Amino acid sequence: MGPQGAGKGTQAAKLEEETGATHIETGDLVRSEIKQETELGKKIKEYSDKGELVPDEIIIDMTKPYLDENDSWILDGFPRNKEQAKALDEALKEIDEKIDKVVVLEASDEELIERLSGRRQSEATGEVYHIEHNPPPEEGSEEDPGPFVQRDDDTEEAIRNRLKTYHEQTEPLKDYYEEQGILVTVDASRDIDEVTKEVLEAVGENK
Ligand code: AP5
Repeated sequence: MGPQGAGKGTQAAKLEEETGATHIETGDLVRSEIKQETELGKKIKEYSDKGELVPDEIIIDMTKPYLDENDSWILDGFPRNKEQAKALDEALKEIDEKIDKVVVLEASDEELIERLSGRRQSEATGEVYHIEHNPPPEEGSEEDPGPFVQRDDDTEEAIRNRLKTYHEQTEPLKDYYEEQGILVTVDASRDIDEVTKEVLEAVGENK
């Protein structure tokens, strides 16, 4: 969990490499439907572009199959409200699995806005970069993953909307998981590698 730009996607990709757990990112599932212009994609584009949550049933139906298909996973961007958290609990009970830890990445709104405005994604690989903090390999070099795109929901208005939704609907989940004794909070305002180290320690995977 974490507000927009806290580094959920960045950290989950690194954690996937370190632990072998599958990275399941609901935002990516949403963008993939939109890009392929499926019927579902057309229905959910408006929510995503404005920075609003896509209806719960759609997100739950999209995510459930991935839980069953994989032995271990890192859920990124799901659940985002109480209803989704309860649906996740039920889905996990059905397959006799449980959540080990809920990691919350925290950073100030000011830092988040700076990060999102500098975010660039490789069209070819999907890899996420930041023009300053995590620049892509040099243009024209062999590893150059360009061209890059900026997300449709990285406009100032949508970013503000997303942060508001996070504070109102997702942040209260911290209490839900705190009560279960599985919540860990990590200061995400530091360097990417420092954050990874602390997340790995928090989930008990650091050797
Ligand atoms: P989603 O794709 O999940 O977007 P988000 O929550 O807005 O999160 P972001 O991807 O913007 O941020 P992030 O924390 O992953 O940051 P990142 O690692 O990229 O969801 C998109 C939309 O889909 C939602 O708005 C909604 O409509 C829908 N949706 C998804 N899930 C849903 C659900 N469960 N229910 C309903 N609707 C749902 O990092 C950001 C930038 O900062 C990058 O450029 C990165 O390089 C840089 N950076 C990262 N870490 C650091 C660091 N430590 N220091 C400096 N720079 C850093």
